[in-house]
Amino acid sequence: MSVVMSRIITRYSNEDNNTNLSCGGNIVHLNLKPGEKVLDLGCGRGGETLLAAAAVGTEGFVWGLDLTPRMLDLARERALTENIYNIEFVQGSMEQIPLPDASLDAVLSNCAINHAPDKLKVYHEIFRVLKPGGRFVVSDIMTDNPLPQEIKEDPDAIAACFGGAITVREYEEALAAAGFPEIDIYKERRYLKNGYEMISRTFQGVKPLERKGVNQ
Ligand SMILES: C[S@@+](CC[C@H](N)C(=O)[O-])C[C@H]1O[C@@H](n2cnc3c(N)ncnc32)[C@H](O)[C@@H]1O
Repeated sequence: MSVVMSRIITRYSNEDNNTNLSCGGNIVHLNLKPGEKVLDLGCGRGGETLLAAAAVGTEGFVWGLDLTPRMLDLARERALTENIYNIEFVQGSMEQIPLPDASLDAVLSNCAINHAPDKLKVYHEIFRVLKPGGRFVVSDIMTDNPLPQEIKEDPDAIAACFGGAITVREYEEALAAAGFPEIDIYKERRYLKNGYEMISRTFQGVKPLERKGVNQ
């Protein structure tokens, strides 16, 4: 049973069971190469976006997309301070990525997709913007059992990086429906967050060179 109400600590803690370490470090699995074009979805303050920009070099380019202007201001400041210019931070939703079809070699996203209400739409968008053969590496959270409806609808719980989690089954169905029927899982960890059993997973998918037998 995933729900242990007695463990709810505050509204809502990030500190129980080191859950603030639930995602991260996915960029190493992308094996970025000089010249590649990359998108960081839900880039926040741009930590991984800047690492990606360094990895692709001046021949490549990296976009960081985030919904929150304050996060983007901080990310832009960091890029300026570090003299990184092959980068652009863009405000917008990952459910409607403001980049052309088949324009990217790689997409990364670190603990952000769970915040989006429609994960299927996000993965359709990732599929759309990747070039054939392009790959994504995502760290995200999910659950074995559905979270209670009141948690799923609570903006504070979503902002605290757990209320937006869907089940592994729902997640994998969304991936398959968007065109990623197979994923490679690099890392998986189970932990309690505010009394709910969560799964943090880092995984990769590849856009096939030719799309076959996928419902869209
Ligand atoms: C937990 S933070 C992760 C930030 C960053 N990826 C990192 O690892 O530090 C989640 C980020 O997702 C952004 N976000 C939430 N919903 C979004 C959406 N629909 N589209 C784009 N960004 C979104 C938030 O503004 C926030 O910066």
